Amino acid sequence: MRYFIGNWKMFGVPNSINILKKINSFYSKDKNRNKYRVIVTPPYTLIQAYSAYFKGKKITIGAQNCYQKDGFSSDTAAVSPYMIKSVGAEYTLVGHSDNRSEGETDFMLRNKVSLALKNNLTVVYCIGESKSEKKNKRTFSVLKRQLKKVLDKKIKKNKIIVAYEPVWSIGSGKIPTSDDLKKTTLYIKKILRGIFKGKSPAVLYGGSVNGENSALFKKIKEIDGFLIGGASKSSKKFIDIIKNYYR
Ligand code: 13P
Repeated sequence: MRYFIGNWKMFGVPNSINILKKINSFYSKDKNRNKYRVIVTPPYTLIQAYSAYFKGKKITIGAQNCYQKDGFSSDTAAVSPYMIKSVGAEYTLVGHSDNRSEGETDFMLRNKVSLALKNNLTVVYCIGESKSEKKNKRTFSVLKRQLKKVLDKKIKKNKIIVAYEPVWSIGSGKIPTSDDLKKTTLYIKKILRGIFKGKSPAVLYGGSVNGENSALFKKIKEIDGFLIGGASKSSKKFIDIIKNYYR
């Protein structure tokens, strides 16, 4: 199974659902539709309406983050995994570099992952090295740390997806070389097999994925799909990624 996950970040108002309606209508008729899943993570403000609309249709809705406490609390502006699940989300991203850079710690991320799983949300756990870490040849040690400090074998493996997003590649138009990406994905899967004592969860790539480069990634069989930012805000661009991947 492949995954095409669109992360809208700070984008979208109620009417933006029209973008997803177009993607859904392509997806419903695509001859390759049984080979992949489409998940979109709009901002919190749109989860309830979009989940209700797409219930029983092809696209699945998720959240971009969740708070590290569950149920209800007195933390202003926080949204718990329980609250996210209650409005129909089935997935949540955890540990996106945008949020790590605002101070998310390993302890917070562990709580987010375990509470999201407790609420039966599938977690898309994001990892990735920064530009300077790459330059200093620390990519593998950073990724290993990000995986080992947060995931462990008690976690429901079939409810975890890992998204590898090199920070320097996000929104920059730069992508890793095929060789680097293959090696890194294999490395991530090796670490994950060690953590889970068995088969690795799906590992996605994210960072400047578009309709022009999605075909290049197809050659790297180890990559199980994509986490797409900018290009997920246009139905045409998002559909082109899928079309060109299967061409
Ligand atoms: P871009 O596709 O815009 O580079 O964003 C990637 C990303 O951060 C998705 O979570």
